[in-house]
Amino acid sequence: MKDLTTVVKSNVKIAENIFMITLTLPESAGRIKGGQFVNLSTGDGAHLLRRPLGVMKVEGNDVSVCYQLKGEGTVKLSQAKAGDKLKILLPLGNGFDLEGKKNIAVIGGGVGIFPLIATIREHCADKKFYSYIGFRNKNAVCLTDELEKSEKLTIVTDDGGFGAKGNAVEAYLNDCDKPEPDLIIACGPPVMLKVLKQKLSERGIKTPCYVSLEERMGCGIGACLVCVCKKTDGENARVCKDGPVFNIEEVEL
Ligand SMILES: Cc1cc2nc3c(=O)[nH]c(=O)nc-3n(C[C@H](O)[C@H](O)[C@H](O)COP(=O)(O)OP(=O)(O)OC[C@H]3O[C@@H](n4cnc5c(N)ncnc54)[C@H](O)[C@@H]3O)c2cc1C
Ligand code: FES
Repeated sequence: MKDLTTVVKSNVKIAENIFMITLTLPESAGRIKGGQFVNLSTGDGAHLLRRPLGVMKVEGNDVSVCYQLKGEGTVKLSQAKAGDKLKILLPLGNGFDLEGKKNIAVIGGGVGIFPLIATIREHCADKKFYSYIGFRNKNAVCLTDELEKSEKLTIVTDDGGFGAKGNAVEAYLNDCDKPEPDLIIACGPPVMLKVLKQKLSERGIKTPCYVSLEERMGCGIGACLVCVCKKTDGENARVCKDGPVFNIEEVEL
């Protein structure tokens, strides 16, 4: 893990309320796995805590993350200009482990697609991805060029304004043509992950499934316990340090 000062290369709007910021690091961050995240200062001086954002792309010393405008921190971040300096802590968390897997089903919703895109980028040369991606409406659709690195891509929207009408979990379950995946990876709003867990259980689908969770965070490195989630064995886990990627069976959703 490194604590670095980065220079903003670009910071552009890519969909309604969604921006992509590319940051040039002073040195290589080493390998960053899809699902790992950064803790990024928002450019407001020392005032706000750094915000956790999933890595979407790494090219040389450039790291790109995408963020939805939510509150003070992300609005402040959207005002950063090329040449501004921001502090970054990376890489954080565990990321998706695809060791030994060939056919991977990818289920993503909204801003949950960013760590999934990083995973597809990292492995698309030697693994096949079957992606089922849900957006709220056509104005939220973004980064389809990255998603098209999948062997098969299905995009759905809540209102049917882009792709078919529906959600990502239904799209996955309804696709009879897909090969049996040996792994499912998912990231999206809590309700999507909850429904995914229910449906896999109802249908008796035993394919291993790993999900990336979001919790409010403080330190991002396992020290403050702000990000604790409940495990099914009754224990607690720190999303920042023990996750954010967990076996879906192991966490309460
Ligand atoms: C591991 C991890 C990876 C993430 N990756 C991304 C990403 O790639 N792109 C992206 O847009 N967002 C991502 N998030 C969520 C992002 O961190 C929050 O949206 C952001 O911190 C909000 O900051 P803010 O100051 O704008 O909003 P705040 O003013 O702090 O909060 C505004 C609203 O956002 C909600 N919120 C705040 N923090 C979180 C959080 N951690 N998770 C869910 N809701 C939150 C609050 O409940 C509140 O309703 C990630 C979160 C985690 C934990
Ligand atoms: S954010 Fe501090 S322990 Fe996870």
